[in-house]
Amino acid sequence: MPDRVYRNLGMELVRVTEAAALSAARYMGTGNKEAGDGAAVDAMRAVLKNVEMDGVVVIGEGEKDEAPMLYNGERVGSGGGPPVDVAVDPVEGTRLLALGRPNSIAVIAAAPRGSFWRPGPSLYMDKIVVEKGAREAIDITCSATENLYRIAEVLRRPVSDLTVFVLDKPRHQGLINEIRQTGARISLQTDGDVMGALMAAIPGTGVDVLMGIGGTPEGVIAAAAVKAIGGGMQGRRAPQKDYEREALAALEGETVDRVLSLDDLVRSEDAFFAATGITDGPFLEGVHFDRQGGVTTHSIIIRALTGSIRFVKGVHQLNPEHIFGEIDTPGAVRTAVR
Ligand code: FBP
Repeated sequence: MPDRVYRNLGMELVRVTEAAALSAARYMGTGNKEAGDGAAVDAMRAVLKNVEMDGVVVIGEGEKDEAPMLYNGERVGSGGGPPVDVAVDPVEGTRLLALGRPNSIAVIAAAPRGSFWRPGPSLYMDKIVVEKGAREAIDITCSATENLYRIAEVLRRPVSDLTVFVLDKPRHQGLINEIRQTGARISLQTDGDVMGALMAAIPGTGVDVLMGIGGTPEGVIAAAAVKAIGGGMQGRRAPQKDYEREALAALEGETVDRVLSLDDLVRSEDAFFAATGITDGPFLEGVHFDRQGGVTTHSIIIRALTGSIRFVKGVHQLNPEHIFGEIDTPGAVRTAVR
């Protein structure tokens, strides 16, 4: 098992997600997915330089959508400090941000070098996520119905009290119909299954279970958070495109159907997760430009080793010199958008 990291890196990584959120937030509702993502990537990259770690991006966003990206293999951090894998999603929910919808977040996860599962050519995976109390009850090889009944039983709640987060995609029509048959409630969201996983793993958020197919990068990032919270998660590759299936078929020694446990997805007991809201959501407020000369951010930091969860509210000054260093400032971004 990879080594431990002897400090809470999350406390520093939250500055990275704050910077990304501050830069991206000006693009809310502009209809421009790439611009918000690009601003967040630049901000993340600039602030990451100041984090005392020898990081390698192993989960970068962009390959799936050909978006601006922190690419896989990119070295990040000061170069000193602990060797870590880094998983980033500068804007998780680019469409949500572009359309001004709830729940877009800037997110990063880190764990000792070699810990994160590498999806290779897999772009999509099936996921199920629950809180700690139900983590022994889930089995991704069973039907949604069976999982919901098992979860309800261990949580001592009627199935009809459970709320299941599902991405609103045509591929999920069968899943949605099946969940409806059980009587469980569904939170159908166009995007953002990292937030769905986070809410499913934390009791009392209004989401009890996440089910369905989403991105593999988002799956690994969510796994870092779920592991840190102590929740339950399983995954399984779910190729959606022909070229994805062909690339997987060509891989030697790979079983596409293999069930990925939380320990497969994050092979360390130490993992760090930080996220900052960009647009307002029910769980994490977004960036608020509502203070005279200041901007408010809302973030969550989670560490697996200690199980600590911190909610951090930041008030940032719109200083052209900018507290984060050489990144596009919120002020500068505002000028660019207007
Ligand atoms: P982006 O931030 O790349 O836009 O991803 C948003 C998202 O909804 C993820 O939360 C989810 O895992 C994935 O896209 C699903 O992909 P698709 O929209 O192609 O089904």
